[in-house]
Amino acid sequence: MTLWGGRFLRESNKLFKKFNSSLSFDYILAKEDIIASIAWSKALMKSNIITHKEQSIIEIALLSLLKEVKDNNQNILISDSEDIHSWVEMKLIEKIGNLGKKLHTGRSRNDQITTDLKLWCKSKINLLLNSIISLQKKFIISAESNHNIIMPGYTHLQRAQPITFSYWCLAYVEMLRRDVSRLKDVLKRLNISPLGSGALSGTAWNIDREELAKSMGFSSATRNGLDSVSDRDYVIELLSVASIGMIHLSRFSEDLIFFNSGEANFIELSDDITSGSSLMPQKKNPDALELIRAKCGRVHGSLFSILTVLKGLPLSYNKDMQEDKEGLFDALYTWNICLSVSELVLNNIKMKSLSCKKAAEQGYSNATEVADYLVKKGLTFREAHHISGQLVLRAIHDNKSLNNLEIFIFKKYSDLIEEDIYEHITLESCLKKRKSKGGVAPEQVCQEIIKSKKRLNIF
Ligand code: ARG
Repeated sequence: MTLWGGRFLRESNKLFKKFNSSLSFDYILAKEDIIASIAWSKALMKSNIITHKEQSIIEIALLSLLKEVKDNNQNILISDSEDIHSWVEMKLIEKIGNLGKKLHTGRSRNDQITTDLKLWCKSKINLLLNSIISLQKKFIISAESNHNIIMPGYTHLQRAQPITFSYWCLAYVEMLRRDVSRLKDVLKRLNISPLGSGALSGTAWNIDREELAKSMGFSSATRNGLDSVSDRDYVIELLSVASIGMIHLSRFSEDLIFFNSGEANFIELSDDITSGSSLMPQKKNPDALELIRAKCGRVHGSLFSILTVLKGLPLSYNKDMQEDKEGLFDALYTWNICLSVSELVLNNIKMKSLSCKKAAEQGYSNATEVADYLVKKGLTFREAHHISGQLVLRAIHDNKSLNNLEIFIFKKYSDLIEEDIYEHITLESCLKKRKSKGGVAPEQVCQEIIKSKKRLNIF
């Protein structure tokens, strides 16, 4: 039975009924709907709309429903209820009869759905925060255990300056740190209860909405009913944060796919997260990483979907807003599983330190050092940059690295260059010099690892 049959003379068309129903996806909000319903029943009791006894019967029935749902929420899908709110109400009435019909007093599915969804988002945010922090820890452990591995750092996918694998790991720790901060930020704005806003203009019953909000763990109650039932900013915000988070994971994936390629040959991915080819026996494909890279697309798709749904939508609730859920559910699930799989990938990486170092030695990644050397000898950076560029050209022509150019060649380009140039442009020297905050110097990286470990309570 629908919740709204009185006004209608005919049954809904079957196809429309199926089209209109959200139960197939909003059933996952069962727990939140029941918890918010219990809180609502208490508010009704405090306002003397139902008696103490009635509230207790309702609560006991809802708690037993909660247990059933926790044991098996797939059962919900058998029902032909319109949505999760109708289902919970129907089940309550099934359990306690007419008394169950009192629960919806002063409440609308419009304030109910956004309350449920906010409660659901809050628990998912906590789950995601844990997953992000766990991945951060993996990066830090990886940074610590691969401390001595020198590899090229890239700009434009061209070898630019030498870095270390630890330093690369710490870059992702920083990205994830911003993801954490963004999630916490969403939580602050989201944590305000819309329950008691009614259909759009508030509830006509004397409900203490602040107390109700606190009883569900919200920090306060919303200030305008019209806005409360229309607001899906938190869905947009969460999807934006997820989209940025997925960008980070897709870049991580792409970096590792490249490091793992025959061309770079810096790492070997573990057997447990790669797959073979049905035709080419030699292949070991980085499927896990490719999937993470691709799944970024569906999360961005969900963000664009909700932005488009809400654009120009008149206040207040419109059924359009039912389309907020599937994308959000899918995106947060996707982000979370990608975080876990990233951890798995990072767990078992085998570093190929020799070929990392060899690559760092090639590609003239120490050309900046030659320029800096000349600046120390008194040239302006522009002049020094030009001479270093000419030396690179010469070295390319002679098929040599800068370190292998003879001193008389160096001197042809600048007589300021002395024998000490060689110690100045070794990979180790390139790294060591960058010791100011944020630099790649091993001692600086060490300090960062210590600070991050402290921050994340890793001992
Ligand atoms: N299933 C609906 C949704 O997800 C619940 C709210 C329905 N409200 C209404 N006035 N029909 O948005």
